[in-house]
Amino acid sequence: MSQGRHSLLVESLDFAYGGSAILQGIDLAVAEGEFLALLGPSGSGKSTLLRLIAGLEQPLAGRLAAGGKPLAGPGPDRAVVFQHYALFPWMTVGDNVAEAIAKAHPTLSRKERRTLAREHLARVGLGEVAGQHPFELSGGMQQRAAIARALALESPFLLMDEPFGALDPVNRARLQDLLVDVWQGSTPRRTVVFVTHDVDEALLLADRVAVMGANPGRIIREYAVPFERPRKRTALFKDGAFHQLREEIAEALDADTLAHLEAA
Ligand SMILES: Nc1ncnc2c1ncn2[C@@H]1O[C@H](COP(=O)(O)OP(=O)(O)O)[C@@H](O)[C@H]1O
Ligand SMILES: [Mg+2]
Repeated sequence: MSQGRHSLLVESLDFAYGGSAILQGIDLAVAEGEFLALLGPSGSGKSTLLRLIAGLEQPLAGRLAAGGKPLAGPGPDRAVVFQHYALFPWMTVGDNVAEAIAKAHPTLSRKERRTLAREHLARVGLGEVAGQHPFELSGGMQQRAAIARALALESPFLLMDEPFGALDPVNRARLQDLLVDVWQGSTPRRTVVFVTHDVDEALLLADRVAVMGANPGRIIREYAVPFERPRKRTALFKDGAFHQLREEIAEALDADTLAHLEAA
């Protein structure tokens, strides 16, 4: 596994809330520029693991490192997009993005930040709404703005927790494509950790899928996703290899659930 400047490493990580084990023995390496999906059922600790990588929680045991350096708390190198992203409601969408730009480029003038913010918004199809407030936009548009804001931070790591979970299927598909376009179109590529409970979404987006099981949360297996990019849904959903991998992952998840039911 590459130890690039923007690689991630999680080693023998345990985490607990109070006395109850939430994550146990997590080992995970993400290479620089890799798109990793964390896939698992609800309660398997996906969000908790992402929060640990973001530096928002501290491990009980084990090691977390980015680019070979131990992680100490949140940092501007890791942008996070949550399922319900809180844009600042009192600021216009443009100012929300300009605020992120100010973090990435503190020396830019207010005018320069505004111009850049409009460019970022235009990339996610929101060029016309920079002057509006988040509440004036639909859920899909708000999540677009949240993504524009996260990208404006220009951080090498992008951590996303079911960012499209609350969207209707059409908007969801649009934003999936947008995310992959942005990720593929930037050099160097960002290192992405993308949480989802949707096998299809994981296989459509990721280079590799780490499958998590629950009670306690841990990684059951990892799968390389071999499909060529750009991936087209229609072609993928007709591909026998896609269905085989999908089936294999679904079986791994079921087997883990059943093993726990029988043990209980
Ligand atoms: N703040 C908290 N306090 C106590 N338990 C929590 C807290 N947040 C999450 N948990 C528990 O940790 C486990 C993993 O949660 P989470 O990481 O949100 O899973 P996922 O994102 O895979 O659905 C769940 O059993 C959940 O109930
Ligand atoms: Mg979650």
